[in-house]
Amino acid sequence: MIVLGIETSCDETSAAVVEETGNDVRPWRIRSNIVASQVDIHREWGGIVPELSARQHVRDICGVVEQALGDAGSPTIDAVAVTQGPGLVGSLLVGVSFAKAFAWTRGVPIIPVHHLAGHIESLVLHGGEMPLPAVVLVVSGGHTNLYRIAAPGSYELLGRTRDDAAGEAYDKVAKMLHLGYPGGPVIDRLARSGNERAVAFPRMRLTHADRNAPDLPGTRDFSFSGLKTSVLRHVTARRSELGLTAADPLPEKETLDICASFQRIVVETLLDRLIDAARWYQAHSIGIAGGVSANSRLRADAEERGRARGIPVFVPDPALSTDNAAMIAAAGLRRFRGGLEPFIEINAQASLVL
Ligand code: KG4
Ligand code: ZN
Repeated sequence: MIVLGIETSCDETSAAVVEETGNDVRPWRIRSNIVASQVDIHREWGGIVPELSARQHVRDICGVVEQALGDAGSPTIDAVAVTQGPGLVGSLLVGVSFAKAFAWTRGVPIIPVHHLAGHIESLVLHGGEMPLPAVVLVVSGGHTNLYRIAAPGSYELLGRTRDDAAGEAYDKVAKMLHLGYPGGPVIDRLARSGNERAVAFPRMRLTHADRNAPDLPGTRDFSFSGLKTSVLRHVTARRSELGLTAADPLPEKETLDICASFQRIVVETLLDRLIDAARWYQAHSIGIAGGVSANSRLRADAEERGRARGIPVFVPDPALSTDNAAMIAAAGLRRFRGGLEPFIEINAQASLVL
């Protein structure tokens, strides 16, 4: 089976062709994976502008799909997998509408995919099937979710952020320090030259009841808004002590130290929760997916902590960690294999739950 994947939930227009291999360990092979990033368009605004994003997807989608099909050798497509949600509704609609038209004209089924199922399956695409049960952390600009996978294709939500996503915290801290957008890659790079003990930012504390998801025990939740606020307080205080205005950058050494100190807390918080859940659920493997899994410190520390416990750690190749359609095609194949009735009448869902 060969699947065309389409992803337009946020600021990347992506199309990919992924095929089944018939191999149980490495079930899928990527034949092409094209990503047109809109980062340069949104950088000017310091974050994603939804209307600009939707319009750019409209401009890019046909060319991106054509290139993905061409690079794959123009194979016969058996099904189309598309991100149905969650994401920006105008952006999702471009991919969903395109996928419906493509599926209808070719007479093939359409498989709606949850964006985070795509991130989870990026781990299998890169590293092969994960020994189950597995515990997987999906960390991106919009999500910080912890899942347990007891059977292939079944994703049980164990906890998630109550406020900011980890990637969002990176982006906001970068903005405070005038480091540009997106913040993750630049903070990752600068943190390597800073002193991670220079500033004592607080560890996460969950003191408030979780009103949004009373059905979750809440003990595996995350929170990053307190950390973000404490970085803002520190930066504001230092600017005032140094007689700088809000538009001025802090001295370089201080910026490096803030990046390193902030990153240490984020990485420790994420890994503490992940390892704790892995132990509790006796996981046979752990995984980290989503844009923030590209973080060099997070990857290195996860591998070290996994090694110390004798548990294999799955992290995608950096190219598969940020949004791409190959992971959507893989999640589509997983869903199709589970015996799902393919439906043509789907719609975009901005707040789709996994
Ligand atoms: O998964 P993704 O591409 O899009 C969403 O679904 O949100 O993730 C984007 C997020 C951004 O917040 C970006 O700052 C963050 O991933 N990111 C990183 C790194 N590379 C990207 N965060 C930390 N370290 C990185 N190296
Ligand atoms: Zn994503």
